[in-house]
Amino acid sequence: MNYRHSYHAGNFADVFKHVVLTLLLQALRAKDKPFCYLDTHAGAGRYNLLGEAAQKTGEYREGIARFQKGPPVPVEMADYLAAVRAVNEGGELRCYPGSPRVARHLLRAQDRMVLMELHPEEAQALKLEFRGDPQVHVHHMDGFSGLKAFLPPQERRGLVLIAPPFERVDEFDRVVIALQAAHARWSTAIYAVWYPLKDPQEVKRFYRKLAGSGLRKLLLAEISFHAMPGQLYGCGMVILNPPWGLDERLKRLLPELLARLRDAPGGARVEWLVPE
Ligand SMILES: C[S@@+](CC[C@H](N)C(=O)[O-])C[C@H]1O[C@@H](n2cnc3c(N)ncnc32)[C@H](O)[C@@H]1O
Repeated sequence: MNYRHSYHAGNFADVFKHVVLTLLLQALRAKDKPFCYLDTHAGAGRYNLLGEAAQKTGEYREGIARFQKGPPVPVEMADYLAAVRAVNEGGELRCYPGSPRVARHLLRAQDRMVLMELHPEEAQALKLEFRGDPQVHVHHMDGFSGLKAFLPPQERRGLVLIAPPFERVDEFDRVVIALQAAHARWSTAIYAVWYPLKDPQEVKRFYRKLAGSGLRKLLLAEISFHAMPGQLYGCGMVILNPPWGLDERLKRLLPELLARLRDAPGGARVEWLVPE
């Protein structure tokens, strides 16, 4: 396991992923009934943007640092920025909240979250981040095994975020298999899988596998920039069982998100890969 998210925290892909995560949690909050949020590849929970790793790549400067500037964000994105501000007392951008911290910001007293992280140091940091918080359960374990161990949760409503580092060549295949198995255990949950846009052929294979998986109600949301061979030129989320109206909300919000991140034109795509 070589991947360390501290080099990439707060980059454009994190901003996109965490804005979509915010929209999904907002939809779950629309009903009083408790929900459970599960994060299979949770990371450290909080990242120091002034530390050596983030400063070395500077990726956050083209991500959250740009995104938070400019005119007020649309109301749906305000919760995300509030989660960023909550880890930056005084207003200056020093830290970035990982998905568990963004989600924690949107949890109510009746909700819970279950976090899995395999890297020993990241898992230790995550345990420290949420020490003493009775609504948060942190497990140092493989996230795909966690899906078998923890699904379905007692709440029976909720969201599973799957955001692997895509270091392994078979990661796209593993994700499809994990989604099928998880859906068999808990069919009503919302599942959100983040994926990189790097190799167009690989992504096409991923779509084909998903389309042939037997799963229905699969929505794709992607942002992309001018493609450079072999480089991360965008990213996407495939959402299984998206909340009603999410497709229209994303169609409206993603161009705004792109415009805040880049001066050059980019592409936003929201499409049903498999409808209901
Ligand atoms: C992209 S990063 C963190 C993303 C995090 N969900 C966020 O949005 O802030 C992926 C994380 O997965 C961890 N990881 C890698 N393989 C894993 C596995 N099999 N199970 C659980 N965590 C894993 C890495 O150590 C890394 O911290």
